[in-house]
Amino acid sequence: MYNSDQLLQMVNTAIAAMPLEREPQGLYAPIRYVLSLGGKRIRPVLMLAAYNLYQEDVQPCLMPAIGLETYHNFTLLHDDLMDRAEVRRGKACVHRKWDDNTAILSGDNMLVLAFRYMMQCDKEKMPAVMNIFSQTAIEIDEGQQYDIDFETRSDVTEAEYIEMIRLKTSVLLACALQIGATLAGAPEQDASTLYRFGERIGLAFQLQDDYLDVYGDPAVFGKKIGGDILCDKKTFMLINALRNASGQDLAQLQHWIGNKDCEPQEKIQAVTALYTKIGVDRMAQERMDAYFAQAEASLDEVRLPEQRKQMLRSLAHGLMGRQS
Ligand code: IPE
Ligand code: IPE
Ligand code: MG
Ligand code: MG
Ligand code: MG
Repeated sequence: MYNSDQLLQMVNTAIAAMPLEREPQGLYAPIRYVLSLGGKRIRPVLMLAAYNLYQEDVQPCLMPAIGLETYHNFTLLHDDLMDRAEVRRGKACVHRKWDDNTAILSGDNMLVLAFRYMMQCDKEKMPAVMNIFSQTAIEIDEGQQYDIDFETRSDVTEAEYIEMIRLKTSVLLACALQIGATLAGAPEQDASTLYRFGERIGLAFQLQDDYLDVYGDPAVFGKKIGGDILCDKKTFMLINALRNASGQDLAQLQHWIGNKDCEPQEKIQAVTALYTKIGVDRMAQERMDAYFAQAEASLDEVRLPEQRKQMLRSLAHGLMGRQS
């Protein structure tokens, strides 16, 4: 079996070897740029790790794995445009370094590239793989639309939030694991259980992302802090702050939410202080732990010796405590 550092290195080497020295530069330079900035590469590593549960040589899964990472990076180009973000992985977002049209078109190109890489897999398994992948891509669009719709709604429930993050984030981690297992010839039941494991990890992962958007260190997180607060994103923390606040605190929160005319830093500081006072930071951490426990229970159900599942367990564990 490989260890996760080896899998990460394989992914990075394969991405660096992608033939992206093409014309026009205006289309391909941004693609090279975003793919060269790294990031955790957690989705391709999860895919290879799932494959490696059943097969010793992970090479046949490498092209689908970089297809998935290319797809993820495509979503980031469009997401940063939609979220009006400025910084990603410690560098200017594509739509800031270039312009909006560049983020749209380079993103579109990456989406198609992703499908081409994903297709480079075992011919017999390809229909099943493309079915999982295309279904996932559709669900992510649905999640992203809910995320945007919720910005201007004030009655979003926690259940709606959880379903939104399941769609925009969890299904991609889940699909990484399911495709890896499917390509490796895993029993269908185990591939589905691994999907469920990824889905639960994904919920915790997005909760942590939302937490770091408020409480993270920008130098480590690689993104500007407070972006979700400025966009009035209906995060777990905001929904629960609104639910648990009363009196002055509630009035203050309601004053800031939807307020677009204020000084941005002032809004971020005020809302953060309210979150901390109301204790929603702790609530988010507790919920993350609960999803992690559910994920572990799913992994327990996969019918393989514990030792083989150790890498997935520790990858998931690493994601929980992450700061970036
Ligand atoms: C960012 O994903 C988008 C979310 C789903 C929160 P990652 O946190 O995996 O970003 P990179 O790829 O490591 O930069
Ligand atoms: C990520 O949600 C979802 C997708 C990119 C599909 P966010 O908008 O929270 O991700 P970041 O924080 O910009 O990475
Ligand atoms: Mg975003
Ligand atoms: Mg977003
Ligand atoms: Mg975020």
